[in-house]
Amino acid sequence: MKNISITKLHDGFDIVCNTIAADKSISHRCAIFSLLSDQPSVIKNFLKAEDTLNSLKISEALGANIEWQNDILTITPPITIKEPSDILNCGNAGTAMRLYCGLLSGIDGTFILTGDKYLRNRPMNRVTNPLRSIGAKIFGRDGGNLAPLCIQGNSKLQPFKYHSPIDSAQVKSAMILAGMNTVHTSYYKEGILTRDHTERMLTGMGVKIESKADDWIAIFPPRKPLAPLNITVPSDPSSGFFFAVAAAIIPNSKIVLKNMSLNPTRVEAYEVLRKMGASVEYELKEDIYEPIGDIVISYTGGLKAVTVSTNIAWLIDELPALAIAMACSDGISTVSDALELRAKESDRISSVLTGLKSCGIECKEAEDGYSIVGGNLQKATINSFGDHRIAMSFAIAGLVCDMNITDTECIDTSFPNFMEILLSLGRSK
Ligand code: S3P
Repeated sequence: MKNISITKLHDGFDIVCNTIAADKSISHRCAIFSLLSDQPSVIKNFLKAEDTLNSLKISEALGANIEWQNDILTITPPITIKEPSDILNCGNAGTAMRLYCGLLSGIDGTFILTGDKYLRNRPMNRVTNPLRSIGAKIFGRDGGNLAPLCIQGNSKLQPFKYHSPIDSAQVKSAMILAGMNTVHTSYYKEGILTRDHTERMLTGMGVKIESKADDWIAIFPPRKPLAPLNITVPSDPSSGFFFAVAAAIIPNSKIVLKNMSLNPTRVEAYEVLRKMGASVEYELKEDIYEPIGDIVISYTGGLKAVTVSTNIAWLIDELPALAIAMACSDGISTVSDALELRAKESDRISSVLTGLKSCGIECKEAEDGYSIVGGNLQKATINSFGDHRIAMSFAIAGLVCDMNITDTECIDTSFPNFMEILLSLGRSK
């Protein structure tokens, strides 16, 4: 098992960072959606991390030809998606498993999706139930809730009108992919607009997806092959956020995060950091599939406590790092309406609070959130519970008080160069 020790920074840092990991959500979708065209997709800055490389391997097992030329990835789709001769391993990636479920349910053939011990314990009925209700044949442990999942794909899925009880971009994306394989228009509705990379990218490929005034999304099955993707993946705001928190809690610090996705459904955590007192500025540079630009975060004095109870889907992945900012702030911060945290790579309500309590921070658990009393973080040994965002959040905490973190291989699932950037902070001035 890999462990890391972080030492306290004695000075602030001032850096421009253009090496934040490429966006994980968009990279998964590149690997999967390329299968839907009849021409090669060209992808620059695809995230070379375990999760997204697993998506790419699955795309290859389904018949795509993968070619790397320096940093440019070309995915040539098969004429028709082929039935693979082996199981498809998603590793730790919930996005891969749920999106492939949606796609493969409507393709003739037998497909078995599995994952690591963490993914095999995460709920899949949020996609398998609605997919089964439109004719998909999916089998798995716990009545189809737990992987391995066996999909007996069939091209006769029924169009649907589905109002999801969960605000999840993974569920939405799975249903959009399934809806594209039916014969009539399907409709999907969610409580709040979750990250909309699927709609943006598929629209760019020629799929007609319309948002109606009553918040239903209409999905029109495409009548002709889709255009290929030609995309440079922006940097991941969720990965950049670890360093945004570092800049907000360490006196005399500033970081410029270059070429980030500025998609409004992805920058809410930065808005909360601004509300807590950090300086946060955006500079829009281009708009190709997504708004893309730089985010500048600087320390402006101590942070103040905050209440987070709305737009949770827009910052769900950043809540562990935000918890470190809350622990360093003045007052009692609260998070509510965030039950989804319990269904992530670990039960993040439990893993965040276990870690913070070890660091001497007072906190209180609720079913759907927590409260954190700002104080002085103390050195501790933190279990990541195999969850990349827990490992990286407490590594950032280590910049203020030293920290040991165990079971840190998981960082490679989303941000393989995280430690390199972290270590560079101490050399920046
Ligand atoms: C993701 C959606 C989110 C997020 C996950 C990636 C995606 O999950 O937490 O890291 O790429 O669609 P949910 O949509 O299930 O909340």
